[in-house]
Amino acid sequence: MEKMWAGRFSQALDGTADDFNASLRFDSRMYEQDIRGSMAHASMLGAQGIISTEDAALIIQTLGEILQDLKDGNLTFDEGGEDIHMFVEAELTHRIGEVGKRLHTARSRNDQVALDLRLYLRDETMGIIEQLRGLLTVLADSAERYADTIMPGYTHLQRAQPVTLGHHLMAYAMMFIRDIERMTDAVCRMNYSPLGCCALAGTTYPTDRRAVAQKLGFDGVTLNSLDGVSDRDFCLELMNAYATAMMHLSRFSEEIVLWCSWEFRFVELSDAYSTGSSIMPQKKNPDMAELIRGKTGRTYGNLMALYTTLKGLPLAYNKDMQEDKEAVFDSVDTLKMCLSVFTPMLATMKVHPERMRQAAAGGFINATDCADYLVKKGMAFRTAYKITGELVALCIREGTDLEHLPLETYREHSELFDTDLYDAIRLENCVAKRSSEGGTAPDSVRAQIAYVRQFLG
Ligand code: ARG
Repeated sequence: MEKMWAGRFSQALDGTADDFNASLRFDSRMYEQDIRGSMAHASMLGAQGIISTEDAALIIQTLGEILQDLKDGNLTFDEGGEDIHMFVEAELTHRIGEVGKRLHTARSRNDQVALDLRLYLRDETMGIIEQLRGLLTVLADSAERYADTIMPGYTHLQRAQPVTLGHHLMAYAMMFIRDIERMTDAVCRMNYSPLGCCALAGTTYPTDRRAVAQKLGFDGVTLNSLDGVSDRDFCLELMNAYATAMMHLSRFSEEIVLWCSWEFRFVELSDAYSTGSSIMPQKKNPDMAELIRGKTGRTYGNLMALYTTLKGLPLAYNKDMQEDKEAVFDSVDTLKMCLSVFTPMLATMKVHPERMRQAAAGGFINATDCADYLVKKGMAFRTAYKITGELVALCIREGTDLEHLPLETYREHSELFDTDLYDAIRLENCVAKRSSEGGTAPDSVRAQIAYVRQFLG
């Protein structure tokens, strides 16, 4: 196929160079945004008298037909096309001849691709936010169910203080809320139309950039044409937000992997989200969680790749920028796919509250409460801390725990100990007493759930 720019050239592009240069293979996924952008552009050209209103109408109608044909699979992306912008324009011209050749007036592929990418990422990010909201709903429902389910809370992966599963789940809800806020914020900053910046310097035609922007749902236009065509900050911001959401999913996945190990056995994943081993018949593997953890790496890689691509680019557009797409598309695909597996995996995960309770009962997880007991009876915290440490050491030597240590032994260490101690170190009470804002007490957790539900609206 003859190139649109063939006029300037006397020799055809080398085949391998042509393949190397082409981006249709991956940018064809933006066909809908490309066509929507072109329709808005054509309508503005007509309204401004830059082309006739009849030509504008024919272009818009034909673009609509091309869009429908692509959606229905009646038109396929031919191998020879350079990119989605050239492909759509060539198809338009193929269908309506000379009139189609008027579409690219007062426009360049440089502002066109910047527009398409913004429209595409706006659409996709809205979809991702919906997925995150679905995950938040599952988290809020589960947290409600397990608001009283005691489990060990860890620091350094050592049993630290008892918490509830509801509390633990709400910690993740807070992360996913921040992810939504980060994405919403990035979309707000991105929501300005670069169309009309043209190649780099603006245009001599009497365009109306704001009318196009409004038609496409933007909040305004980019204010400097050199910046408009060369800015990819919005890709970086969103890729950072996607990578952060992946990091949250990955940490959660890591815990699920641990929790379904036979050592923990806190949870069991549904068969629908587990796999078996090819050799060990007893195995039930948390492959989905592991894959999510594994795929997080590529979203970091994509972000670093684009940062690196951009760092040496002079203004304005450079072909290096074509490399933005595969990176950002891969991050979008990865996050969407991971969310579509993670949410139902979590929703169908079976919890073993008795195993969690059992694990919380060992490991002197109530030692802080024992020390606090003495403090409430008037002892200085440091002294109480030391005495409790000695009691723990004693328990370890004698193979017992704080719940079963006789009162006489306690009293040998401090006269302040009395029978009410056993109540003070009961796990249910340890949890119920941590009713500070954000704490693990069921009522505090219910307040957190209420916040999440309110966020969801
Ligand atoms: N395929 C190109 C890209 O993805 C579109 C812009 C091309 N502009 C140009 N002047 N070669 O960046």
